[in-house]
Amino acid sequence: MGKIILSWDDLESACKSCTKCPLHETRANVVFGVGNRSAEVLFIGEGPGENEDLKGEPFVGRGGILLDNMLEIIGLSRKSNIFIANIVKCRPPNNRDPHSSEREACAPWLNEQIALINPKIIVCLGRIAAGEIIGGDFKISRDHGKWYEIKGRKTMALYHPAALLRDPNRRPDTFVDLKELESVIKETCTQTY
Ligand code: URA
Ligand code: SF4
Repeated sequence: MGKIILSWDDLESACKSCTKCPLHETRANVVFGVGNRSAEVLFIGEGPGENEDLKGEPFVGRGGILLDNMLEIIGLSRKSNIFIANIVKCRPPNNRDPHSSEREACAPWLNEQIALINPKIIVCLGRIAAGEIIGGDFKISRDHGKWYEIKGRKTMALYHPAALLRDPNRRPDTFVDLKELESVIKETCTQTY
């Protein structure tokens, strides 16, 4: 990896044969990401769960349906105007949090994706992605919906869809965050949303 900028197809095929961390031993599929490679808005989740591992696509279980519904409210779709990727591309066994060594090993793939997509806006889904991308003492219950300038990109975090399934009381906050995201997209992005 390092300084060589790969083409998207080269990046995808290299990532799909990656064995840089032990998560490769138990995965069914590498979950590289899905969506528009020229998206102005990039969503970043934590890592594949069971359904995602089996299908090779991010957010395809119940959380994925909820995410697609949330996106639709503000005119976003993985089929047209956004890209969705994860911090780690392979499923952690039993859906445990990815270890920091695994997140570090996997980071170059996401960094290359960010470089190639060059999004104007990054939306972290949940505390793991926000901790990795925004860092500091980020706390999802306190800091969701706040805007940060990270490496020149407008960056924010939403509650993870799985957290919204577990605790529907958080959904009204997420609705507010989504409407705020919608207005920042309108003032920042040039594609039609
Ligand atoms: N949760 C995530 O963070 N990412 C996925 O792809 C699926 C569930
Ligand atoms: Fe490679 Fe990332 Fe999969 Fe680990 S999680 S094997 S670093 S692609």
